[in-house]
Amino acid sequence: VVDIRRLYAESDMFTFDPGFTSTASCESKITYIDGGKGELQYRGYPIEQLAEKSDYMEVCYLLLYGELPNKAERAKFSHDITHHTMVHEQLHRFFTGFRRDAHPMAIMVGVVGALAAFYHDSTDINDPHQRMVASYRLIAKIPTIAAMAYKYSVGQPFVYPRNDLSYAGNFLSMMFSVPAAHYEVSPTLEKAMDLIFILHADHEQNASTSTVRLAGSSGANPFACIAAGIACLWGPAHGGANEACLNMLEEIGTVDRIPEFVARAKDKNDPFRLMGFGHRVYKNFDPRATVMRKTAHKVLAELGVDDPLFDVAMELEKIALEDEYFVSKKLYPNVDFYSGIILKAMGFPTSMFTVLFALARTSGWISQWKEMIEDPTQRIGRPRQLYTGSPARDYVPVEDR
Ligand code: ACO
Repeated sequence: VVDIRRLYAESDMFTFDPGFTSTASCESKITYIDGGKGELQYRGYPIEQLAEKSDYMEVCYLLLYGELPNKAERAKFSHDITHHTMVHEQLHRFFTGFRRDAHPMAIMVGVVGALAAFYHDSTDINDPHQRMVASYRLIAKIPTIAAMAYKYSVGQPFVYPRNDLSYAGNFLSMMFSVPAAHYEVSPTLEKAMDLIFILHADHEQNASTSTVRLAGSSGANPFACIAAGIACLWGPAHGGANEACLNMLEEIGTVDRIPEFVARAKDKNDPFRLMGFGHRVYKNFDPRATVMRKTAHKVLAELGVDDPLFDVAMELEKIALEDEYFVSKKLYPNVDFYSGIILKAMGFPTSMFTVLFALARTSGWISQWKEMIEDPTQRIGRPRQLYTGSPARDYVPVEDR
């Protein structure tokens, strides 16, 4: 049997694949995508079934452990996560170092990276127990940190987590309750939130997950790796697309201006792209977008939301789906197109959209990180390059240049 990796390493051969369009960086048993058919499975379970029948806590367990939990395992996991949602009191002070108008993603990168300084006892990547403790801590504390980033930005006091609420319900409570008033978690919002978390939980080797793996391949601690993933997710071509999409819809403003923006998206001399459309892997409907689309309609109807922006979104979807350019390039609405719409209807400010994506993806990132660390063939990630710079030349003293 030829070990292809050794063969390449010991020769000068390498593949040139900018953007990794055809390079598998690892083996994984976590998530399966068939981009042509528009299929997505976590550990073999179709996303549609998980979205309909499961909940985010169960999905986290499935991603981490590889199997759905039985009743007792499920109850224990949920209890353990719920009882790790508090963050160290000292971490509160960390927030006050940021400007009030800081983007919450900037706060997330800083605070999550800083967790390693607070939880020394779960940074030894060679200890399986510590790896699990770090995984639980990250999944449990990320909603608390996300809600704190929001509360800080609006100048409201931090809201402590509540153990009597579900994962999604607790997050909504930390986001939206204020000390002066009683906050009742709406079952509609709680269900929609949980569904959004499920749909965003993992998506195999996308840019941010690959970043988490690459950072982890050097032996960096899990908190640093997740902070790296959050930084990567922030970009508008990736997780930042939900925020960029809503900003775009606001810029379009009215249905009659849609053709102008569709024309711009098709113009090769204009860098403008329709945000929330297209995907590297899906050349068919993104199955998450299909579920999200249904939920968007349901949530808007249940909440009785009447917002002209949603009319713009629905009309844009219709026009793009029938447009020859979008059809021929297989550019379908992706998950970010609909998530922004639902999140806006739920009352989240646009600056929090990517934060919510990061919150939900933490379970996938940490499962991928754990799988990599536990793989005995794991080596440091070290891509090669095609050098196109100057040939060797002699140094020229500054007075002779
Ligand atoms: N609007 C207009 N044209 C587009 C769009 C778009 N949203 N997306 C791709 N295209 C065109 C490109 O111009 C290119 O045309 P060409 O063949 O004539 O040069 C062709 O479609 C292929 O596009 P690439 O950029 O090569 O595709 P790639 O796989 O590298 O990029 C990406 C995928 C980044 C998602 C891209 O479709 C995009 O920028 N979309 C908008 C941002 C977005 O919604 N991102 C979220 C992705 S999903 C997620 O992260 C959860």
